[in-house]
Amino acid sequence: MATPDDILVARGVEAGYGKKQILFGVDFAVAKSEVVALLGANGSGKSTALNTISGFVRPLAGSIQFEGAEIAGKPPHQIFRRGVIQVSQARDLFMDMSVEDNLRLGAWVRGGQVADLLDGVFQSFPRLAERRQQVVRLMSGGEQQMVAIGRALMGNPKILLLDEPSGGLAPIFVNEIAAIIKALKKTGIAMMIIEQNIKLALSVADRFLILREGRVSQHHDVRSGAVNEEEIVRSIYL
Ligand SMILES: Nc1ncnc2c1ncn2[C@@H]1O[C@H](COP(=O)(O)OP(=O)(O)O)[C@@H](O)[C@H]1O
Ligand SMILES: [Mg+2]
Repeated sequence: MATPDDILVARGVEAGYGKKQILFGVDFAVAKSEVVALLGANGSGKSTALNTISGFVRPLAGSIQFEGAEIAGKPPHQIFRRGVIQVSQARDLFMDMSVEDNLRLGAWVRGGQVADLLDGVFQSFPRLAERRQQVVRLMSGGEQQMVAIGRALMGNPKILLLDEPSGGLAPIFVNEIAAIIKALKKTGIAMMIIEQNIKLALSVADRFLILREGRVSQHHDVRSGAVNEEEIVRSIYL
């Protein structure tokens, strides 16, 4: 299944919390510039899978290679430095700090050209530029999600891991987040995206996987033809 274009390859990943195993031999790959959606019911292990890639959860077994280097079980900051950058489900923003300071923190760890990166984010998100001094707590959920994505971009990611970017947002912001993800995709950045919003997921993904109780139950290439959204929803929830 792995191809020479794959940058992220996971094989037989098992992970859990204490004695509770959550992932049972999960395999997947993401190629250069590819967007892979990770779908599944609540509690199926989607966030655990992303957190295992980014190092916040230590795998019990299996291999995760990024650009040919083994990253499974490495500490999060090392994985981050390789360009594997996650926007977590909780967003983890510093609510009482300004937009700009939150963004700057995203570059802090990897170093780099902070001013250039900041300019790039403000170009992609004009609304954040207008509100650069605004305290994050006073922003809408959609704007906060923009800050979270912008902060991840400040780390100059090679692959972006997005955990439910549209989660909890009003419909108007769901469309805006979808547009942002599509614009990011055009830049050629690889992404893995968890979404409950199947329409959004299918509109951006090249491929998708369905996790069921910690195992990959299905694997589809969206590019190879039309997908039946209803059927997918059924196979996730029934
Ligand atoms: N930090 C944690 N400690 C213990 N159990 C957890 C923790 N995080 C998640 N779980 C459990 O792991 C299972 C999978 O959770 P998760 O990966 O968050 O699923 P999903 O993102 O698909 O909704 C759930 O049963 C959840 O309760
Ligand atoms: Mg989750």
